[in-house]
Amino acid sequence: MATSYEAAQAAIIERLSPEAARHCERVATVSARLAQRHGLDAEEARVAGLLHDWDRETPGAELLRRAERLGLPVTDTDRAVPYLLHGPVAAAEIREVFPELSDTAVEAIGAHTFGAPHMGALAMVVYIADVIEPGRTHDGVGLLRERAESAGLAEAFADTYAASVRHIVKRRKPIHPTTVDVWNTYVAGEGR
Ligand SMILES: [Fe+2]
Ligand SMILES: [Fe+2]
Repeated sequence: MATSYEAAQAAIIERLSPEAARHCERVATVSARLAQRHGLDAEEARVAGLLHDWDRETPGAELLRRAERLGLPVTDTDRAVPYLLHGPVAAAEIREVFPELSDTAVEAIGAHTFGAPHMGALAMVVYIADVIEPGRTHDGVGLLRERAESAGLAEAFADTYAASVRHIVKRRKPIHPTTVDVWNTYVAGEGR
């Protein structure tokens, strides 16, 4: 039996601040719409979108402790910005709370912060939805919304990822080593 949206929603509302929980609900709605557009399971996308920020408000020191305990790769960038670990840590632990969650939903949760070199379609959908949900107001979000509605999934993902990298560079934040892999795999590749 799949994880029900209602069960996941009750857990998210209990776990996160109202503001973060509303963000998760908006990401769920956009994820479901994009999934439908690309012929994926909309309900699975809705649940993955809802749960993507399960660890968004877990303190950085705690994320680092848990990542190390779980044996996840922890780079210098993760030590400098432990918030980046909120995706991978959630993915490693969320099945204890929702054992019926599909592998693809767990992958999407784990990859939503800096992506992964081998992302499935659902992971791309949740990544895009997180960036373009209606509460986002960053520069260029309108264009990314248009791309999400009209372009192919991999193209829309590449555009969204490029915008995220520009944002990191503009704010002079460290670039995670995984981001370089993802960039080379999906964005810089194939003569784009
Ligand atoms: Fe997040
Ligand atoms: Fe998010």
